[in-house]
Amino acid sequence: MEKTNKLYEGKAKIVHETPDHDLLVVEYKDSATAFNGAKKGTIHNKGIYNNRMSAVFFEYLEGRGLKTHYVKTLNDREMLVKRLRILPIEVVVRNVAAGSLAKRLGLDEGTPLRSTVLELYYKNDALGDPLINEYHIKAVGLAEPDQVREVERQALAVNEYLGEFLSPRGIDLIDFKLEFGLHHGQVLLGDEISPDTCRFWDRTTKEKLDKDRFRRDLGGVEEAYQEVLKRITTATGGR
Ligand code: TMP
Repeated sequence: MEKTNKLYEGKAKIVHETPDHDLLVVEYKDSATAFNGAKKGTIHNKGIYNNRMSAVFFEYLEGRGLKTHYVKTLNDREMLVKRLRILPIEVVVRNVAAGSLAKRLGLDEGTPLRSTVLELYYKNDALGDPLINEYHIKAVGLAEPDQVREVERQALAVNEYLGEFLSPRGIDLIDFKLEFGLHHGQVLLGDEISPDTCRFWDRTTKEKLDKDRFRRDLGGVEEAYQEVLKRITTATGGR
C-alpha cells in the first residue's frame, strides 16, 4: 500500500495516510524515549523487532476473537492498520508490582498482586499522562461509559490471552499498556504491543526483557528485544 502524506510522528512511530481513507501505514522507528521524553536514545533495529512482535501479538489476539487495528505486515518496519480515532486513554494492566505501581504503593518490584490491577491514564503528554478513573473520564467527556466498559473488557481479555501465549515461552507478563480507538463506531485495539509497552520477565531468572533495560541503563537492550522475538516466533511444541 502506497504512503501519501505523513499524518503524525510520535516518539517511536510514524503514521502515514494511504489512498484508502480507512487505512494507515504505521512505521516503527529505532528511537526510544523514557520519562515522557526526558530520556532519549536509539535502540538499534528496535523498529524491525517491534513491527514484527506487534504483528505476532495482534495476529494471535485476532485468532482469539479480539478485534484490532492490524491488517497486515508490509515490510520490515511497516504495517497496514485500520484508521482509528484514538481514545485519549491509556490502559495499564498489571499482574505483578513493578514500575510506577511499586513506587506508588511502596511495594518491592516483583511482588505478586492478589488480583489483576487495571489502571486508566489520560493520554496527554503536556500533563505527563496522569492517572485517572472512570469518574474523570465521564466528567470531562474523554469517552462514553460504554466505550470505557468495552476497553476494560478487551484489556482484561488481552491480559488473559497474552499470559497464555507467553507462559509456555518462559515469559512472565508483568504489566502492559494498551491504547484503543474507534473505527466506524467500533472499539478496536490499536497502537503496538512490544517490549516498549509491556514488561516481560524471564520466568526462571526474572531477567528483564523489555524497555526497562533502556529506562534503567541495564545494558543488553537490543539483545532483550531479540530474545523476546525469538521466543514468540518459535514453536512451543503443542497445547
Ligand atoms: P509504569 O509502571 O511506568 O506505570 O508502566 C506500566 C506499563 O506501561 C509498563 O509495561 C510500561 C508501559 N508504559 C508505556 O507503554 N508507556 C508509558 O509512557 C509508560 C509510562 C508506561
